Amino acid sequence: MVENQETRSLAEVREFWVRSAEAAVDGQGLRPTARDPYLQAAVESAMEPYLHRADRVLDVGCGDGLSSLRFAEQVESVVGLDYVDAFVERATVHAAARSSENVAFGHGDVLDLSPIRAAHQPFDVVITIRCLINLASWENQLQGLAELAACVRPGGLFLSSEGWTDGFQGMNLRRHRAGLGPIAVVPYNRLLERESFEQAAGAYFELVDYVSLGFYIFMSRVMQPRLVAPEAPRHDHPLNRAAAELQCECVLGDEFLDCDYAGVYVYRRKG
Ligand SMILES: C[S@@+](CC[C@H](N)C(=O)[O-])C[C@H]1O[C@@H](n2cnc3c(N)ncnc32)[C@H](O)[C@@H]1O
Repeated sequence: MVENQETRSLAEVREFWVRSAEAAVDGQGLRPTARDPYLQAAVESAMEPYLHRADRVLDVGCGDGLSSLRFAEQVESVVGLDYVDAFVERATVHAAARSSENVAFGHGDVLDLSPIRAAHQPFDVVITIRCLINLASWENQLQGLAELAACVRPGGLFLSSEGWTDGFQGMNLRRHRAGLGPIAVVPYNRLLERESFEQAAGAYFELVDYVSLGFYIFMSRVMQPRLVAPEAPRHDHPLNRAAAELQCECVLGDEFLDCDYAGVYVYRRKG
């Protein structure tokens, strides 16, 4: 955990998401489940190369379903789950508006995916984007990881972008060096230490790849705030758009790994 980070109980976090689901976008026109649209695009682009036409995909903690719908264009089918029914309803409306016939959204809690396993064969790919960080303790996160792993077929993939403590601290160090104050972790998030996550994931998976998004984090969380100060930085700033495009189009290596808190793990399920 990040030092001095406040955390909330499972019930308080759920209440936060129930309230967030009341509006499709907030006062700034940002989606509550993916407030940084360019980071979201970078995460999706990092995952897409690992999707194949014949894949059956499970996206857990799918929110309004827009990422699931993007993935559905690349694969055979997608099941999107969220534990907030208002998000499931919004995702279903989004699917209908796009006439997407290979996507189904439903209720599901990452802490108990047994109903999904009873209804479906193991999936070729299981995805989480910022789902495990909503759990209240490391023990809950381990349970969520075990539930996710049990949904992946042997040889199938687990693609995960959560929130990594190490990169968050590294980002704040770079901000400090740039004369900027630290960004606080929101109380409904409990970030994960990469080393602990890798050790836990190693019980079920072999590591295939880790795609760093550190360049985008640096440009949006250090460069843009420095550029626009004393104005407040904006998630929809053109610098973020250009940074996300570069992050997706170029191989940027690990130069900004120290401040990468949103990179994508690619894991293969052991047999
Ligand atoms: C930060 S949002 C991300 C949504 C989506 N993955 C995306 O990238 O746009 C987190 C989502 O996880 C859902 N969530 C949180 N805890 C969950 C749990 N225990 N089981 C299932 N969904 C959960 C929330 O309702 C919310 O929709």
